Amino acid sequence: MATHQPTTTMPAPQAPPATGAATAVAHPNIALIKYWGKRDEELVLPRTDSLSMTLGIFPTTTTVTLTPAAGHDTVTLNGHPAQGEALRRVTTFLDLIRRQAGRGEHAAVDTVNTVPTGAGLASSASGFAALATAGAAAYGLDPDQRALSRLARRGSGSASRSIFGGFALWHAGTGTPAQADLGSYAEPVPAAAGLEPALVIAVVNAGAKAVSSRAAMRRTLDTSPLYEAWAASSAGDLTQIRAALLAGDLKTVGEIAERNALGMHATMLAARPAVRYLSPATVTVLDRVLRLRQDGISAHATMDAGPNVKVLCHAADAEQVADAVREAVGPGAVHIARPGPGAHLLTAGT
Ligand code: PMV
Repeated sequence: MATHQPTTTMPAPQAPPATGAATAVAHPNIALIKYWGKRDEELVLPRTDSLSMTLGIFPTTTTVTLTPAAGHDTVTLNGHPAQGEALRRVTTFLDLIRRQAGRGEHAAVDTVNTVPTGAGLASSASGFAALATAGAAAYGLDPDQRALSRLARRGSGSASRSIFGGFALWHAGTGTPAQADLGSYAEPVPAAAGLEPALVIAVVNAGAKAVSSRAAMRRTLDTSPLYEAWAASSAGDLTQIRAALLAGDLKTVGEIAERNALGMHATMLAARPAVRYLSPATVTVLDRVLRLRQDGISAHATMDAGPNVKVLCHAADAEQVADAVREAVGPGAVHIARPGPGAHLLTAGT
């Protein structure tokens, strides 16, 4: 692999000089139309389009520093050296950046992640969005946001959406795998100015999940007789939720998000053997959300690869929804998130 040689003659024609170090911040996102299932595992190409809201809480901050003298990459996660699968995923991702940049130096990655890791709160989304943003800058790439979203996708599918703030749509991509690779990126989707959404996050269990989303998706695709029906209905959900976002109709947005999530979990429950992320505490929170609706408050739930529940409601109702949900989760934590910003560089320099 070519190494970068400083030159006093002509500047390099395409690649700007590597800065050597960069720090980026990114936030998690919660899908309202879910990504569940890959058509290509290597390229991380999803079977369906998905749509999410980026949160204004739980940032991940990542610094990538090139270490030309080192024989391997080092990764520090919340002050501790990463090992095993976590280290391998970051190193594989850095290899991808190095190939794109035509460079060979190893790097030190230092990540501070404020998301409860592995709890179905998409810590991989903010993690790989921050790593893609900082890594690309440190290695001297200058990607536009679409290229950055495609890059982040390779680390974790949902990370493609955390490149953008607010609501983001991740296109599955079409055609051959090579064509779909080019067409599979996220982009911002418009919403009415008066929408004022909030997600109330009920953490019923902050522990790591028993089955990774990667393994669970594969099993669902391979064995669930319900998968194709959900994938087909998800396309309709996407069209309808975009219209509801534009119209500022948060109740309809919530109804569509809730049915899409329950449908995704139904595909998993029908897998062989079943993948069941929802716990008794999850169902208790779902009952509470139903009661809020009966009391006239627009509140709708969505769940990911874990037992935690995210409740979509108007920002003005968020405290009341949080109080109701807090009663149901007991000792578990409840957080209120408004829409947050896309991934961005904090510093880049030598
Ligand atoms: O990006 P991954 O591999 O962590 O998958 C995320 C899948 C869900 O969170 C369940 C749904 C989604 O669209 O974020």
